[in-house]
Amino acid sequence: MAEVTAYRLERAVAIISFANPPVNGLSHAVRAGIATALERAQADPSARAIVLTGAGGLFSAGADIREFGTPASTADPTLRQLIDLVETSAKPVIAAIAGTCLGGGLELALGAHYRVASSDARLGLPEVKLGLLPGAGGTQRLPRLVGVERAIDMIVSGEPVPATALADTALLDLVVDGDPLAGAVELAASARVAPKPPPRTRDIPLVEPSLAALCEAARTRLKAERPPLPAPMRAVDVIAATNGTFDEGLALERRAFLELMETPESKGLRHAFLAERAAGKVDGITPATPVRPLDQAAVIGAGTMGAGIAVALLDAGIPLWLVEADQAALDRGLARIAGIYDAQVTKGKLTATERDRRFALLRPTLSYEAIGQADVAIEAVFESLEVKREVFLALDRVMKPGAILATNTSTLDVNTIAGFTQRPSDMLGLHFFSPAHVMRLLEVVRGRATAPEVLATGLKLGKTLRKVAVVSGVCDGFIGNRMLEAYTRQAWYLVEEGATPQQIDRAVESFGFAMGPFRVGDLVGHDVSLAIRERRRAERPGYLCSTLPDKLCRLERLGQKTGAGWYDYPEGPRRPASSAAVEELITAHRAEIGVSSRHIDDSEIVDRLVYALVNEGARILEEGIATRAGDIDVVYLTGYGFPRARGGPMFHAEQAGWRQVLQRVREFARNPHGDPAFWTPAPLLERLAGS
Ligand SMILES: NC(=O)c1ccc[n+]([C@@H]2O[C@H](COP(=O)([O-])OP(=O)(O)OC[C@H]3O[C@@H](n4cnc5c(N)ncnc54)[C@H](O)[C@@H]3O)[C@@H](O)[C@H]2O)c1
Repeated sequence: MAEVTAYRLERAVAIISFANPPVNGLSHAVRAGIATALERAQADPSARAIVLTGAGGLFSAGADIREFGTPASTADPTLRQLIDLVETSAKPVIAAIAGTCLGGGLELALGAHYRVASSDARLGLPEVKLGLLPGAGGTQRLPRLVGVERAIDMIVSGEPVPATALADTALLDLVVDGDPLAGAVELAASARVAPKPPPRTRDIPLVEPSLAALCEAARTRLKAERPPLPAPMRAVDVIAATNGTFDEGLALERRAFLELMETPESKGLRHAFLAERAAGKVDGITPATPVRPLDQAAVIGAGTMGAGIAVALLDAGIPLWLVEADQAALDRGLARIAGIYDAQVTKGKLTATERDRRFALLRPTLSYEAIGQADVAIEAVFESLEVKREVFLALDRVMKPGAILATNTSTLDVNTIAGFTQRPSDMLGLHFFSPAHVMRLLEVVRGRATAPEVLATGLKLGKTLRKVAVVSGVCDGFIGNRMLEAYTRQAWYLVEEGATPQQIDRAVESFGFAMGPFRVGDLVGHDVSLAIRERRRAERPGYLCSTLPDKLCRLERLGQKTGAGWYDYPEGPRRPASSAAVEELITAHRAEIGVSSRHIDDSEIVDRLVYALVNEGARILEEGIATRAGDIDVVYLTGYGFPRARGGPMFHAEQAGWRQVLQRVREFARNPHGDPAFWTPAPLLERLAGS
């Protein structure tokens, strides 16, 4: 195994550098290596001071996630022990911080006696994002260096802060442009450091008369968050203890960390984190799989999706041709893109120069002949097989050999579309979510003939666009929308039986969804889903689905775009109000189908909706449409507003217990007004419940 730490002397300073690509995670080998090097430096008569630095242009992003849950993660020296060694070192230790310095990486630096950072370094304690708090002294040391208020901000938000914003605090002794190592050695060799006993962070008295008030204000803010999560609250409690002795604070932090490890929220968040990382791993794709270039792109169709996809590509610096059917549509598309960028400039998120630079990468055209040299063509025209056929015949004719052909279809068969071309192995689906330049999810759809390197290139494009790419097989709706269909169908059944759209939305929003199904429906527009339902009724004999949403469409209540849907919007799109017309519609519909309404508990609402997702998810998994349960969770977390702290539908079901889920599914199947076929348990669900 390669050495993970290196030791050298420069101007009577021992430089200890550690390396563990890609992010210098503090693995057991790294911790042990640093501890040994520290010992060597203590004993080295030629070393007056010690500089600690990460290799490869960054300090450390914290724990090594590859060690999570293994004995190595808790083996001696633990991070706490290592930090103690640093802090109690008889010779001064200076941390030289470049690039990323997060979590345990920052806690290690907090234990040093001085810190020098490069101006582009980013420092933070993101543990709350995993439902935890900094467990190696961060809650006690950071407030002593940056003050209580800033420490609360950093620990409770988990967001990294640029070094330049911390330059005025005792956290950073020096901020330099470029490599901080030279500055750190300079400081280490200077009179400021050498003759004095090293100042220890733990010994800094915390003088903050408003500690209690600041903590109370933070608690009030956190209580208002939905759903309230335990980790940030516990973090504030532990920060509040900085008025006691350092060791008491450290002990409290430890207890809180261990308690949080066992909370369902932390388990959900950690699962979400690991599942996102695992999603990139796909059968048949290895690091050795070649990827094709992605230097220039073409987007066909400049409507809602095409414009958003174009912006996502331009944001990543990829020049592109934008193709439309006629000049008027092209002008509208360009105006849409300009609108997105202008709004960003107005909000101060983008400079006018940067907007102009991105816009200059855009080449609008009406001619397919112009786009033949693009490395990838992404189609986002109307959802009609006939229109798509025309487009792919044209693409097949003009695109250079090896170009990747992609469709953004939501519901059409990617294999059929690939069949319009003479090169189905170059074809895949790239299913973006609206707004395409904002939403993190990208379903990469693997067709029957898609070549491994085409799939690998699709995944690479996802990474380039900073999206979370999940591979899906071909089926109606792919992973996300296929599950959504089951969920929405169930939501309409709940209304037929007695719940109101408001009650259902409130129940799932209390569960933690960003938005309930009826508000989502109003946002997306009901005409699109009506067309899909009509197609399904025609294609699938025996397909059962409430006719209630069809009746809503007949009232011209198509959602926010017509100013009315399941809700009225007298005060604008953010303020849905209940609608007398919809209440009447629902009452008449129940009478027509012969259902007398009953009271339905919120818990039944949530279980029916979430288990509808789970049962369909189990089928998707079994059919091999999704590779692993975690991929399904990632789709729901990043594309559908499922509460992250619950880890996604499949993880949630596993935590509830498969047997319990199956029992509920069987109960729902016995509902006299239910759709028993809907609740046929997926064979995989039965197997999991049995095992
Ligand atoms: N809207 C969504 O939320 C969403 C999400 C994911 C995927 N999709 C899919 O994306 C595709 C586009 O959807 P949209 O909502 O952007 O539709 P849209 O109606 O807003 O845009 C379609 C655009 O395609 C253009 N077009 C039509 N025929 C063309 C042709 N032959 N050549 C070039 N351009 C042509 C139209 O002029 C129009 O500007 C559909 O397949 C849809 O299913 C939509």
